[in-house]
Amino acid sequence: MNNYSAATAVAVHSDFLSLSQLRRQEFQGLLVLSADFRSRNVFGPVLQGKSVALIFEKPSLRTRVTFEVGIRQLGGWPIVLGTAESRLGEREPIQDLARNLSCWVDGIVARVFNHHDLEDLALFASVPVVNGLSDAEHPCQAVADLLTLTDVWPSWSGKEFVYVGDWNNVSRSLWHACLLAGLRFRAICPEKYGPGPLEPVEWSTKPSDVKGADAIYTDVWASMGQEDELESRLEIFRPYQVNEKLIAKTGKHTFFMHCLPAHRGQEVTDSVIESDYSLVFQQAANRLAVEKAILVTVLVPGTQAESATVKRKDGRQL
Ligand code: CP
Ligand code: NVA
Repeated sequence: MNNYSAATAVAVHSDFLSLSQLRRQEFQGLLVLSADFRSRNVFGPVLQGKSVALIFEKPSLRTRVTFEVGIRQLGGWPIVLGTAESRLGEREPIQDLARNLSCWVDGIVARVFNHHDLEDLALFASVPVVNGLSDAEHPCQAVADLLTLTDVWPSWSGKEFVYVGDWNNVSRSLWHACLLAGLRFRAICPEKYGPGPLEPVEWSTKPSDVKGADAIYTDVWASMGQEDELESRLEIFRPYQVNEKLIAKTGKHTFFMHCLPAHRGQEVTDSVIESDYSLVFQQAANRLAVEKAILVTVLVPGTQAESATVKRKDGRQL
């Protein structure tokens, strides 16, 4: 049993695959719970007796380490599957893997190439499945990113969040997160590398449209699995590099954000990522608290955050 005291209920979803599954209040609840985990670090061994399988079809530093440490800090038992077992559908059908794992573990965190595989895993598993990144979404990252912004902005009011670069898993989850938070979101992408026709995102192709941005976020120009395309993308994306000149075009005190890993000299320069307006290391640090909040939300039904508002590091409330 957990001993959370009051207020904001964090709704329980059996799976955490996409932020599009969440309601506003649930997203806010996740931010609150994450902030609670960050300020108090440990709530007790709420995952005691629970095992969580971690499947990584692609490399990972932040996601793998924060989930593994988070599960251990909550008293649970992470089981990281080896590379050979992690290629979904290769050694055995996904439905067999899902049904077998469900007999032994209480949850599954998976990083996959194909989002449909993740959906299949969730369909056949009788335990919760968490998206640790797919080709379509990276929801854990987006929660950590919005938590990071709560530390630097007193409210979302009047703020503009601008994503620059390749429209990908990270940008899609950020778009969902901003919609849920009520934060204005715009994207600036090269033609043919922007949101799809079914995604009602405000976007343009002109890098100078960063004017007015309060935060600029970028990500790699070729995601994991697209390495073959990097060479051809370099020329197309070069005008979208986040450098000091582009930052100056915002005309604002803007913050720089990146999920990492970054390719310095490609999508961002060294001087921007190392600047005092760069939030990249705070974003990464916040992953730990967010993974714990997500795990507890899906694995410990009825979990409640301690307070109804996000408690910021500086004591102010969002
Ligand atoms: N940002 C992120 O998810 O990092 P990893 O790929 O290292 O997990
Ligand atoms: N868009 C990147 C994010 C890595 C965390 C990728 O999928 O490789």
